[in-house]
Amino acid sequence: MTSPTTTDSKWWQEAVIYQIYPRSFFDSNGDGEGDLPGITEKLQYVADLGVDAIWLSPFYTSPNKDGGYDIANPRDVDPRFGNLADAKLMINKAHELGLKVLVDIVPNHFSSEHAWFKAALIAGPGSKERARFHFYDKKDDGTPPNNWISLFGGPAWTQVADGQYYLHLFDSSQPDLNWENPEVDQDFKETISFWVKMGADGFRIDVAHGLAKENILTDHHDPKGLSDALRIDVDMEISKREALLASVPFFDRAGVHEIYRSWRKHFDSFDKPIMAVAEAWVHPPVNGVAYVRPDELHQVFNFDLLIAPFDAKTLFRLVNNTIEMLKDVGAYPTWAISNHDSPRVASRLGAEEARALALFLFGLPGSCYVYNGQELGLPDAEVADGDRQDPSFIRTKGETKGRDGARVPMPWSGQESPFGFSSGKSWLPLPTTWNELTVEIQSSNSDSSLSLYKRALSERARLLSAEDFTWDVSRIDHGVLGFSRAGIQVYLNSGDKSVKLQASELILSSSSAPTCENGELELMPKRAIWFKR
Ligand code: GLC
Ligand code: CA
Repeated sequence: MTSPTTTDSKWWQEAVIYQIYPRSFFDSNGDGEGDLPGITEKLQYVADLGVDAIWLSPFYTSPNKDGGYDIANPRDVDPRFGNLADAKLMINKAHELGLKVLVDIVPNHFSSEHAWFKAALIAGPGSKERARFHFYDKKDDGTPPNNWISLFGGPAWTQVADGQYYLHLFDSSQPDLNWENPEVDQDFKETISFWVKMGADGFRIDVAHGLAKENILTDHHDPKGLSDALRIDVDMEISKREALLASVPFFDRAGVHEIYRSWRKHFDSFDKPIMAVAEAWVHPPVNGVAYVRPDELHQVFNFDLLIAPFDAKTLFRLVNNTIEMLKDVGAYPTWAISNHDSPRVASRLGAEEARALALFLFGLPGSCYVYNGQELGLPDAEVADGDRQDPSFIRTKGETKGRDGARVPMPWSGQESPFGFSSGKSWLPLPTTWNELTVEIQSSNSDSSLSLYKRALSERARLLSAEDFTWDVSRIDHGVLGFSRAGIQVYLNSGDKSVKLQASELILSSSSAPTCENGELELMPKRAIWFKR
């Protein structure tokens, strides 16, 4: 069932958007990798979850050095995923089922296999082909043009045969584009138009905060510190991290906003509403608000919850700040607790905590993103070093384990790995213990994580567009945080003791439902509930 908002021109404001990682969703042809026909085949499952839209990570032509975020042709489908006709069928099927479709767009870089980069290598220094990227001569001492470190480790510069270097914030196979060159903007607008014509309803903008660079020819005063500060897996004293993050010369520079103002005009030029969500990991978080000013993008991801502990006080601070900040520009929040770049929430916080947090967030105003497998409560899988493919693992020589653990394919059915994902050998092995977590098993168990997600998403319709949002922080010292909306109470207990709440009717409980007796119910630790007073 889709919510009534899906027909609205602002369907995305409170939409639940399901992220599909195409390579790991469903393999239709037995080659061990998920593909577009596989997605089409499983769209009924997605629609039955009760979500409003899907967002697909890249399935474009790519040498796949960074899970497809290294794009060689953004207007074609990589053969491992199928072809353009398969994309069209997939989008049409989604629409038939009432699902909107968001596709990924990756404007910070191309693959080094893109025709533009190949032409740049041939054309040589000073050419208009090189001016689409950031090519510079080495310093007088023979070192790269500056001392920036790639986000995947190692230098952010790679030298080509004639001695020049090119900038890559990510892998050396992902040369950064020069957004001061109008040809770049033109090309991306063409890509946007291409996918809108194919039926897309919107875009997730990869590294949206990275397009404008400043002081390219100046060394950073602490490149290693900056690189650590940008990694969520490195602990650092907060004040030190904040100071370093305030000095990033390649993220969140003023110039990015001009680009999105111009993109917004382009989005608004189509004959149906086109939305865009920015992946903009910015500091301080209030800077994210600028991306969703009325003449820029529609949503910006909120990453706070991907790293926040399961703690009522922290959750209150982060959620409340986000809601309040966005009021200034009239934008709706987005909530995400898992994606293809971070450890899965069930591993990071624990299985029960993950269910509780999801149930709590589904009640909040705004839009929720659910990463495929999150609804099953999947943990991160153990991946053997020899199977790892994340460039950050390779570039840091194993110091960073990387993101493969969160990208292991979906377990669908049966008792043996790869659990219905593929009739062949899956590209990453599925843990044998996932026999308990398959869609098949969970569909027939009303206490499963999958059943909870379905119930929650169907109840959520009762809260949508209700304006009467009020916090209850009266028991926050005991780890209990609540709010009410549309006459429904939503509470979470991160403490270690049960609390009694005045209630007349229990609507949902994240696990083992408490009974409602004598006008009270008991909220146990690590639980969230929805109820009526
Ligand atoms: C984004 C993507 C991530 C990718 C990176 C470089 O952060 O989500 O998967 O590695 O951009 O494109
Ligand atoms: Ca396949």
